[in-house]
Amino acid sequence: MHIHEAITTRRSIPLVTEQAIPTEVIEEIIEAGTHAPNHFRTEPWRFFVLTGEGRSKLGKVFGEITQAEQTDPQSEEARKKIERSRNNPLRSPVVIAVGAEPSDGNRVILQEEFAAVHAAVQNMLLAAHGHGLGAIWRTGAICYHPKVTAFFNLSNEGEIVAFLYLGYPDMEPKPIERTDAKQLTTWID
Ligand SMILES: Cc1cc2nc3c(=O)[nH]c(=O)nc-3n(C[C@H](O)[C@H](O)[C@H](O)COP(=O)(O)O)c2cc1C
Repeated sequence: MHIHEAITTRRSIPLVTEQAIPTEVIEEIIEAGTHAPNHFRTEPWRFFVLTGEGRSKLGKVFGEITQAEQTDPQSEEARKKIERSRNNPLRSPVVIAVGAEPSDGNRVILQEEFAAVHAAVQNMLLAAHGHGLGAIWRTGAICYHPKVTAFFNLSNEGEIVAFLYLGYPDMEPKPIERTDAKQLTTWID
């Protein structure tokens, strides 16, 4: 697939099948992440591959966080929320949590460390697309919760920036309109 085609046909695919993804494919997707630009070559990305019961371990943490947020955790509504949160990581056979672990080098700018990891995530989405996989970048407030940071053993400065849900597509995404780039571009001669 030509790079332009890959970029313009990539879409978020929230619905995927349970079909397993070969390990080599997952490794190739992660390797694509490591080729992203990164200032001072700090390589601030960290990758955590969750499959099988690994997803339930994360789900347990999600459930605890959601439970702690409920004013009446025993109510029917709260229980449903907690259960949904706990099951969220089970929505795809593979979840790759992508973390940022900023370097403390004295010329390093924190913002740029996160920028590099975001670039890595886009590389990974494109690589997944190239393999015919469906993928979606998910976050939500829970992504940045200290309990999630601790689950992945990241430092106080570190953070998960993306949960990449991956699997073989089980849906066709609806077309979406993009604003014409010309409308968003200013040429300064
Ligand atoms: C930083 C970031 C966080 C996102 N978090 C979520 C999320 O939590 N849930 C979700 O459904 N989509 C999430 N998305 C995906 C966007 O909703 C999606 O990219 C957007 O709707 C455009 O659709 P497309 O990816 O098919 O072009 C996120 C995207 C980014 C860049």
